[in-house]
Amino acid sequence: MDTVITLTLNGEMVSARADQTLLDIIREQKISLPTLCHMDGLSERGGCRLCAVEVQGAPRPMAACVTPVSEGMVVRTHTPELEAYRRMVLELLLAERNHICAICVTNGHCELQWAAAQAGVTSVRYAYLHPDLPMDASHGRFVLDHNRCILCTRCVRVCDEVEGAHTWDLAGRGIQARVITDLSRPWGASPSCTSCGKCVQVCPTGALFAKGATVAEMTKEHDFVSWIIRGRTKREWVW
Ligand code: FES
Repeated sequence: MDTVITLTLNGEMVSARADQTLLDIIREQKISLPTLCHMDGLSERGGCRLCAVEVQGAPRPMAACVTPVSEGMVVRTHTPELEAYRRMVLELLLAERNHICAICVTNGHCELQWAAAQAGVTSVRYAYLHPDLPMDASHGRFVLDHNRCILCTRCVRVCDEVEGAHTWDLAGRGIQARVITDLSRPWGASPSCTSCGKCVQVCPTGALFAKGATVAEMTKEHDFVSWIIRGRTKREWVW
């Protein structure tokens, strides 16, 4: 039998299973909490820190997506400090690379843009770095634009965990970190890429897009990841 955990979430007592994360419970309670690196069906990375919550007794905000529930926890999801923290995270992401929405293929369909709008980011207080990063258009169907990448690694995880190809990976550290294909070969020369396009669909920004898409044309489909995982778990395609 599953162990039942009781915790306090925004002043209300809630129950959880011991194997759940704070984000699971927050979503179950229909509380809106922004996320960028999280994607249903993929392993958690805890990298973007947008899902930060306050846990009583913890010295700093905790990423809800990678924090397991525990008995007696007291959690708050929306305080003035947390809202300010999330705005700061979003501003740093916007300042780090080039996110000029007006010329982006995912303008209007971008999760970074949505999260910034929802958090009330109207300007960026930090100096824009705007590095001049390359684009990789060597693939026959897709393009990688490093300038739009926020290093959420959804592409890396979906390629490894769902497609099983492990074409994508991360190289470099800190400000030099980049997503790469097959040990930094051009994407079009990748022997492991199956051209399935899963990486493109899960990318939250315009970093990965279909060739030929122009400004604001590129929409993304996410639901297929949960659908595939559910089908595999229930062995729906095994005869
Ligand atoms: Fe939790 Fe990114 S969604 S850290």
